[in-house]
Amino acid sequence: MTSRLPLLVCLSAVALVVAVPLAHSDEASLWPKVLEALPPQAPPAPLPSLSAQTCNGCHAEIHDQWASSGHAHASTNPVYVAARGALGDPPLCDECHLPLENQRATLPKGPGALGRTDRQPNPNWSATLATEGVTCAACHVRDGVIHGPRDLAPERAPHPVKRDESIKTAEACAFCHQAALPGGEEHPFLDTVGEWRRSPFAENGVSCQDCHMTRTSGAIAGSRYAAFASHGMLGGRDPAKIARALTVDVSIRSPKVQRGDDVRATVTVMNTGAGHAVPSGDPSHQVEIRFSVVGPDGELAKDGDPQSQWLSRTVGAEPPFVEEADDRLEPAASRTFDFSWSVGKKLTPGTYTLVVSTHWWAVGPERATGLDLEEETVRVDVASQRVPVRID
Ligand code: HEC
Ligand code: HEC
Ligand code: HEC
Ligand code: HEC
Ligand code: HEC
Repeated sequence: MTSRLPLLVCLSAVALVVAVPLAHSDEASLWPKVLEALPPQAPPAPLPSLSAQTCNGCHAEIHDQWASSGHAHASTNPVYVAARGALGDPPLCDECHLPLENQRATLPKGPGALGRTDRQPNPNWSATLATEGVTCAACHVRDGVIHGPRDLAPERAPHPVKRDESIKTAEACAFCHQAALPGGEEHPFLDTVGEWRRSPFAENGVSCQDCHMTRTSGAIAGSRYAAFASHGMLGGRDPAKIARALTVDVSIRSPKVQRGDDVRATVTVMNTGAGHAVPSGDPSHQVEIRFSVVGPDGELAKDGDPQSQWLSRTVGAEPPFVEEADDRLEPAASRTFDFSWSVGKKLTPGTYTLVVSTHWWAVGPERATGLDLEEETVRVDVASQRVPVRID
C-alpha cells in the first residue's frame, strides 16, 4: 500500500524506533545537525530576553517581515498543530518547528534520547518564545552573540555582533529544510536543498536567500540601508509567491465549437521561478491544476465538472519511506496536460468559459478531511485563467 506520506507519520514512527543520526554534512558551524536541539541560550547582554518582541523594539521592519512568514507561525500553524496532534504530539517535531531548547516546556530525561517519552520540566522554558516558532534567535543567537552577515564595528550595535559568512549560504536553511531517514537517503523526504543543489541556480550562485530574502531598502535599527535582507521569505503562503514559480500556458484548439463536438485544450505548466521542485518540502504538499467549464449564466456547465491534474510525490507508507513516484516539476521542467469536454447536443448555445486554475495544498483534500481541517485552511488559490469558447 502506498500513500502520500505526511512527513509527520514517518518522523513519529522513527521516533519510536531509534535515535536516528540523519544525513548532514557540516561538522563545526553555527548550524546544528539535523534533529539536534539548539542548546539553551541566554539573551545577548544587555537585551532582556530572546523573544522576537525584544528585537522588534529596534528591528521593527525586519520583525514585521518575519511575522508575515511561515517561520513565525511554525509552531502555531493550524495544519501543523492538527498533524502533530493526530500523532499524539511527538516531541520530535520540535527539532525544526520549535528549534530552541528554551522554547520547549519539557525535555527528554537522559542524554540524546530523540524518541524517549519520559519527560522532565525545562527550567529555561519561555512561554512567549514557545509561540514564536522559528524565531530570530534560532538563526542569529549563539552563546550570547548575535551573528549576522555584515562586518560591523562593535560600537554600532547595542548587543554583541559577529559576522558569519555562512549565514548567506544554504547551510543556514539546510538543518531544517533537508532531512533523510536511513535507507531513504537516495530521495530524502525533505529535499529542498538537494533539489536546489542539482539545479542551475546553485551552479550559477543563486542562493536561497537571493530569492527568499530579497534586498529591500529601509532601516535596520538606527542605520538606513539601500539594500538589506528582507525576512518575509516571499510572504508565507502568499498566492503571488506561488504564482511566481509557475508559468501556465493555456492553448485552446478552437474558439468555436459545434454542439456534439469536443472543446479541447492543452495546458503547459512550467517551473520558471523556483530554485527547487514545485511543490517542495513536506511530501504532503501538492499542486493542483484544475479545469472546469462555466456557462453563460456563470454556473458550472453540464458535464463540465472540474477535472484535476496533480503535481505531487508518492512515498511508501513505512519507514524509510522510499519514494515511489515524483510528479513534481524540477526547476525549468515543464509538463503538458490535455483537456477535453464533450459538448452535449442539447446544450444551450452561448459563450462558455474554460477556467484553468492552480491551487497549492499543504495536505491533499483527503488528508485534510482526516485531520478535520477545512479546505480553506490547507488550500491556497494561486491563479486562474479564463478562455472564452463560443458554442453554436
Ligand atoms: C536596542 C536596540 C536593539 C535591539 C533590542 C536589538 N538590536 Fe540588533 N542591532 C541593533 C543595531 C543598532 C545594530 C547595528 C545596525 C547597523 O548599524 O547596521 C544591530 C545589528 C544587528 C544584527 C547584525 C546585522 C548585520 O548587518 O550583520 C543582527 C543580526 C541583529 N542586530 C539581530 C538582532 C536580534 C535577533 C535581536 C533580538 C534578539 C536584536 N538584534 C535586538 C539594535 C538592536
Ligand atoms: C530562483 C528563486 C528561488 C531559489 C533559488 C529558491 N527558492 Fe524557494 N521558492 C521560490 C518560489 C518562487 C517559491 C514558491 C513556489 C512554491 O511554493 O513551491 C518557493 C517556495 C519555497 C518553499 C515552500 C515550498 C512548498 O511547496 O511548500 C520553501 C520551503 C523554499 N522555497 C525554500 C527554499 C530553500 C531552502 C532554498 C535554497 C536551498 C530555496 N527555496 C531556493 C523561489 C526560489
Ligand atoms: C530562518 C532564519 C532567520 C530568522 C528566523 C531570522 N533571520 Fe535575520 N537573517 C537571516 C539570514 C539568513 C540573514 C542574512 C541574509 C543574507 O545576507 O543573505 C539575516 C540577516 C539579518 C539582519 C541583517 C540584515 C542585513 O542585510 O544586514 C538582521 C538585522 C536580522 N537578520 C535580524 C533578524 C530579526 C530581528 C529577526 C526576527 C524578527 C530575524 N532576523 C529572524 C536568517 C534569519
Ligand atoms: C530552525 C528551522 C528552520 C530554518 C533554519 C529555516 N527554516 Fe524555513 N521553515 C521552517 C519550518 C518549520 C517551516 C514551516 C512553517 C509552517 O508553515 O508551519 C518553514 C517554512 C519555510 C518557507 C515556506 C513558508 C513561507 O513563509 O514562505 C520558506 C520559503 C522557507 N522556510 C525558507 C527558508 C530559508 C530561505 C531559510 C534559510 C535562510 C530557512 N527557511 C531556514 C524551518 C526553518
Ligand atoms: C527536519 C526538520 C523538521 C522536522 C523534524 C519536522 N518538520 Fe514539519 N516541516 C519542516 C519544514 C522545513 C517544513 C516546511 C516545508 C515547506 O514548506 O516546504 C515543514 C512543514 C510541515 C507541515 C506543513 C505545514 C504547511 O502548512 O504547509 C506540517 C503539517 C508539518 N511540517 C508537520 C510536522 C510534524 C507533525 C512533525 C513531527 C512529527 C514535523 N513536522 C517535524 C521541517 C521539519
